[in-house]
Amino acid sequence: MTEKDFIPSEPFTSLESGVINSKAPSNIALVKYWGKFPDQIPANPSISFTLNHCTTSTTVAYDKKSKPSDKASFEFIFEGQPKPEFEPKLQTFFERTSRYLPFLINYHLKISSSNSFPHSSGIASSASAMAALATSLVELERKHNPGMDQEFANLKSSFLARLGSGSACRSISGSLVVWGAHEDIHGSSDLYGIPFPGNIDKVFQDYQDTILLVHRGQKQVSSTVGHKLMEGHPFASQRFKQAHANLKDIKEIMTNGDMDAFIALVEREALTLHAMMMTSSPYFILMKPNTLSIIESVWDFRRETSLPLCFTLDAGANVHLLYPVQYKDKVLQFIKNELVAYCENGQYICDQIGSGTKIS
Ligand code: DP6
Repeated sequence: MTEKDFIPSEPFTSLESGVINSKAPSNIALVKYWGKFPDQIPANPSISFTLNHCTTSTTVAYDKKSKPSDKASFEFIFEGQPKPEFEPKLQTFFERTSRYLPFLINYHLKISSSNSFPHSSGIASSASAMAALATSLVELERKHNPGMDQEFANLKSSFLARLGSGSACRSISGSLVVWGAHEDIHGSSDLYGIPFPGNIDKVFQDYQDTILLVHRGQKQVSSTVGHKLMEGHPFASQRFKQAHANLKDIKEIMTNGDMDAFIALVEREALTLHAMMMTSSPYFILMKPNTLSIIESVWDFRRETSLPLCFTLDAGANVHLLYPVQYKDKVLQFIKNELVAYCENGQYICDQIGSGTKIS
């Protein structure tokens, strides 16, 4: 598929007004996207688990205008309040997507959104927010064009979500999504995420992600700034090569269920992401002392119990603990006994892999 395939062939103006509700999850990358080219093209392929409980619910109310405007017109309410600080990001989203949603100039949109996870928890909300919005807009197109099949609708939702926030394109489907062209992954594309095309070993079924909220509040580095730090980074080309190699390896691991290899790869990816930030210009340390304490405790726990518990990190201080569902009780006990003390206000969120964005 190319960009052109996402341009509708008709103007679509038959509907007067209505409401579309969608609910999209966040996702957690195993091989990280860090670095991009213009038009939201990733510098390397990535793969993530789609989450289940950390979600954004979005309502899009559309109303046909008496005459079309020159660009999308919208209002945005977040958790019942206007959120002017989100509007530039939405504006950019509508500019980037206007070619693919040309019918929107005929409508006024009232967009209301809310998150299932706490405010400023440091959990990336742009992935779930952009996935929910993109899916609602594709649903609006589909109402005009009921012949659009689900597979195409998912690809287009992912394609549009990417234009809002790169990682958002991995939140449309589940449970394991690849984004970025990779020679060994059939159907992979820089333009959208696809469900992992191979078999997934049963050990990953219902895989758990418990998110330890080490540091709530604004991220020190926005992802837009973060990705830019990879431009001219002394280790960039090695890193992009490594991500390709890691994706090749994780493809085998997902199919053969090799836990030791999974743990080594996922933790190495997390630490590499932070190593890139620590060695860029300017440089950043996004881990907090408690992040390191948690990592050391996880390593001790693994040595003592031999249970396959591992961590990954986003571009922040919070820690995602990943483990098979069968060890849930033991891991939660360990968290309560030893890790809660490192979480701000003792907060953590229990999530697990899920199946993607839903229209309700
Ligand atoms: C560290 O998708 O938030 O979470 O495309 O600029 O919106 P933009 O970036 P974003 O970057 C996410 C980076 C990451 C790694 C990942 O999710 O792969």
